[in-house]
Amino acid sequence: MEKNGRRGFMGKAFGAVAAVGAVGSLVAMKKSWDPLPSVKAAGFTTLDMTAYTAGELVTEKWRGKPIFVLKKTPEMVAKQNEDDKARDIIVNGEHFMVAIGLCTHLGCIPAYYPDEEGFICACHGGQFDFAGMVTKVPPPRGLDIPPFRIDGNKLVLGEIGPEYENMKENGVTL
Ligand code: FES
Repeated sequence: MEKNGRRGFMGKAFGAVAAVGAVGSLVAMKKSWDPLPSVKAAGFTTLDMTAYTAGELVTEKWRGKPIFVLKKTPEMVAKQNEDDKARDIIVNGEHFMVAIGLCTHLGCIPAYYPDEEGFICACHGGQFDFAGMVTKVPPPRGLDIPPFRIDGNKLVLGEIGPEYENMKENGVTL
């Protein structure tokens, strides 16, 4: 009886040690499959939207891809049609085009021509306006908009905010 009781106690004690060990190894395993902090940070690009000048294209980078950021001038905003407006990212009342800078035809990087207020892709002559809409084929659709979340004056690329969700739902971007 006493033996059994002792065995029972020892069994429980070993069981407890094994359980702690199992939890410890689970924690270690989770740590090993979680992305490194540097990798997590690499998934996001935070842009300070107060740093841009209207009418000037800046090419940023997100997950290795070029990201076009164009703060629109009041004149540009005034002449946009409804499709252009649907692609606007508005931060503190300022209108921006933010798009992945890869042609939706075969992935070349279109060049911005400020005088034309648009992009020309040298590969097959595709063209986009300053909102990223196609103005000349062969590109099958406008420049893709990366996932984003507006955070005050900042834009966090790689996160999904309600404005991006709306764009997806309305078919503005893939
Ligand atoms: S890759 Fe741009 S037009 Fe073909």
